[in-house]
Amino acid sequence: MADASNSINDVNPNRWALQLALSAVGIALATGALFYFTTRDLFNRPQASQTPRVDPMSNVVSLEHGLTVYAKNCALCHGPGGLGDGASAAQLNPKPRNFSTGWFKIGDTRSGLPTDEELAASIRRGLFPTMPPWPQLSDGELKSVAMAVRHLAIEGQVNTRLSRDSKMSRQDALKIAHERLDSGPLIALPPKPAKIDLARGKAFYLNNCAACHDPDGRGRLRDDLVDNEENPIAARDLTSGLFKGGTGVEDIALRVVRGIPGSPMPAPVEISADDLWSTSAYVRTLSKGKETATLP
Ligand code: HEC
Ligand code: HEC
Repeated sequence: MADASNSINDVNPNRWALQLALSAVGIALATGALFYFTTRDLFNRPQASQTPRVDPMSNVVSLEHGLTVYAKNCALCHGPGGLGDGASAAQLNPKPRNFSTGWFKIGDTRSGLPTDEELAASIRRGLFPTMPPWPQLSDGELKSVAMAVRHLAIEGQVNTRLSRDSKMSRQDALKIAHERLDSGPLIALPPKPAKIDLARGKAFYLNNCAACHDPDGRGRLRDDLVDNEENPIAARDLTSGLFKGGTGVEDIALRVVRGIPGSPMPAPVEISADDLWSTSAYVRTLSKGKETATLP
């Protein structure tokens, strides 16, 4: 009996305490879970100030959307119809682009307007110092506004033709506008040579580019350059690290092959792949350290 009572006294209180502890933990867990699942919506509900901007239009890609984005953000400089005659245009040099002329400084095509992707990229990047960048536009807004630029270019060209020739039909004017402004074939850069020869690039640069950009690349010696609207324009200081069309060696190669339409910067009629890549790489070294682009 003593044994039995001993065993009750020794074992049962421990078991009882363990069970009590376990049920207490169980109840706590169950209550916590119940509380969490019934109230989590309250906890997760964002504060008014944290509500992300949910613009149902921001992902829509359409011309109509693009024209709205354009009217809100771009017309001030480029004018309501994209003719470069916005209210702020007079104070700017270089002037805001008149899209209907079809000349674009930064492009990836052999003729006509740049592709929509290239247009979107240069709108996003801006063209310092007078065309601001647009980091705040959503991808949908950006793609749409590139469509708007293309549309305004065509319409502007049609209207110019109709006003010059009263007998021309809109259909004929539209056909000519498309022939002139639709994007031509993509420019294919030649493959990069296995080895980039910077000395060769420097020699090509001194013979073909230094007349405008100066032998040291600073672009200070010429003050007589004008763009195709007779506004003064400086050859770029190639040591500044500032590029309108992107900082990569490929971007520079594209500028060299295509030139910069509307500016005095010419496109070489013929350039070998070796000269192209070594000169572009050499130009990139002039602003070494100022940008993050990969250097040879
Ligand atoms: C503050 C004035 C200003 C605003 C606002 C502005 N632009 Fe421009 N934009 C310019 C100027 C100036 C140029 C010409 C820059 C140059 O030639 O270096 C230009 C050039 C361009 C070009 C031609 C790029 C090329 O390769 O030649 C496009 C396309 C363009 N802008 C689209 C837009 C769009 C789309 C918007 C609105 C989202 C916009 N711009 C807003 C001033 C402006
Ligand atoms: C007749 C004068 C002239 C010659 C020759 C010339 N350039 Fe230019 N270049 C310019 C002008 C002007 C600009 C500025 C255009 C602008 O800002 O709109 C420019 C701009 C550039 C830019 C800046 C591109 C960018 O994305 O902003 C590069 C790079 C460049 N030139 C490289 C060259 C190279 C390489 C050569 C020789 C193969 C060359 N240039 C020959 C006048 C010239």
